[in-house]
Amino acid sequence: MSAERQPAPLRSLLFVPGDSARKQEKALATDADALILDLEDSVDPANLPAARARVGELLRSQAAGSGPQLWVRVNGPESGLLREDLEAVGAERLPDGIVLPKISAPGEIVEAAAYVTALETRRGVTAGTTRLLVVATETPQGLLALPQYPAVLHAARHAAARLVGLTWGAEDLSAALGALGKRDGGGALTFTFQLARTTCLLTAAALGVQAIDGVHTDFRDVAGLQRELESARRDGFSGKLAIHPEQIAAINAAFTPTEAEREHARRVVAAFAAAPGAGVASLEGEMIDRPHLVQAQRILAAVQRAKGRT
Ligand code: COA
Ligand code: MG
Repeated sequence: MSAERQPAPLRSLLFVPGDSARKQEKALATDADALILDLEDSVDPANLPAARARVGELLRSQAAGSGPQLWVRVNGPESGLLREDLEAVGAERLPDGIVLPKISAPGEIVEAAAYVTALETRRGVTAGTTRLLVVATETPQGLLALPQYPAVLHAARHAAARLVGLTWGAEDLSAALGALGKRDGGGALTFTFQLARTTCLLTAAALGVQAIDGVHTDFRDVAGLQRELESARRDGFSGKLAIHPEQIAAINAAFTPTEAEREHARRVVAAFAAAPGAGVASLEGEMIDRPHLVQAQRILAAVQRAKGRT
């Protein structure tokens, strides 16, 4: 039995305001798997032209393949700025990926993907090179639309092929709902926000893409970040968004498989390699079948990522 190659997951993605040269310089020196150069909520609208120019310049000046991947968060579909953002930052080099915020329907992803395809064609870049990450729960409509994603994206292969993950956001959803907070007195997410988080996780799994946990905005709260990381890893998220360089080491560690997990994954892969054509095998007295192989391959891909940001 063989399984498709599992892409190396992105463990840590660090937001960096698009208009801050200082933070961009600092961010490039971190171990984040990807930077998300932001043109949206962390940039004052008056600074958007300067931020676009800055991000375009950064993309131009960094050789592809060295250091963190360079992603750009553009403004959402409703803003009317999305295309201009893409056009401006990608004037010379397209980013490794684009973060699409405030998505309210899967058709918006398909539309953005079509635009990216047109840009790649114009720039002479191989179609499909630029990846997408969707912030899927920032509007109430977006959260309600998640169950439609699998069917819509199944019918739009070119868009689905670009998609590397879904992430969820609580801040904009809170604002849209008029919610006063997202946690109860004991610190647990309230039901509405658990629903957003879990629906994002399930939809990502249904699509076969990464579920990436949202930001821990209280960046000085190390213990709180650790708690979020433990529950994210346990539940099946494979990465987390960051807003501060000091969050990166903990995030990378949480999503890097332990030595025991690696060893087990190697044994699972070896057991199937030793029995070509078998759908099921036994390992140390336990039955292993396809899901175990897929999980093992995912762990080994994560090890690769940890080694060399491939
Ligand atoms: N990327 C790169 N560098 C960062 C950074 C980031 N996201 N956040 C902080 N730094 C730098 C600061 O510039 C500072 O360096 P300096 O002293 O040499 O100037 C150093 O790290 C320590 O920063 P600190 O003083 O702890 O935080 P701050 O008060 O300067 O910044 C935030 C706090 C929240 C404003 C900042 O972390 C930030 O801009 N985060 C990203 C926000 C964002 O993009 N949000 C959108 C997604 S939710
Ligand atoms: Mg936001």
